[in-house]
Amino acid sequence: MATERSLILFKPDCVQRRLAGQLLTRIEDKGMKLIGMKMLQVTEELAGRHYAEHVDKPFYPLLEEFITAGPVIALVVEGPEAISVMRNLMGPTNGREAAPGTIRGDFGASRQMNLIHGSDGPEAASREIGIYFADEELCHYEPTLEPWVCADDEK
Ligand code: RTP
Ligand code: MG
Repeated sequence: MATERSLILFKPDCVQRRLAGQLLTRIEDKGMKLIGMKMLQVTEELAGRHYAEHVDKPFYPLLEEFITAGPVIALVVEGPEAISVMRNLMGPTNGREAAPGTIRGDFGASRQMNLIHGSDGPEAASREIGIYFADEELCHYEPTLEPWVCADDEK
């Protein structure tokens, strides 16, 4: 089982709606280890690098307008299969289709204003973490409760 990292963004709607604390609580409750966190304003240039796979799509201008409309909170989380664990915690892209119990299912009903971003694979995670964080900004530590959160053969 692979220990993975995922780049998480609390999008501008999350910050503006003062939901950051509730979303962070869900991530912590799930047992994810937080190793990086910062608040920043996404520029048009940064949006284009982050969403490189989408820049030529018809919806990109609206996506760029949304993601640059206010500050975001960027996080790096680590854990066994952290990428899929986070995607499941978030729910599918469209909040109207996201199941109750997921972040997108519980806090919204929009495809665009879907509160949170999470990397969709190991390559994307590595690329996205490099966009938002320098290596020295990530923290290395052993959470005291770790033996009660995850067995050794799951790491
Ligand atoms: P994200 O990258 O933000 O975590 O979202 P995602 O993986 O669930 O969805 P993705 O396909 O990567 O799309 C990125 C963001 O673009 C907006 N979108 N609009 N109008 C459309 O058809 C459309 N499709 C996607 C959404 O805001 C989505 O989060
Ligand atoms: Mg995506």
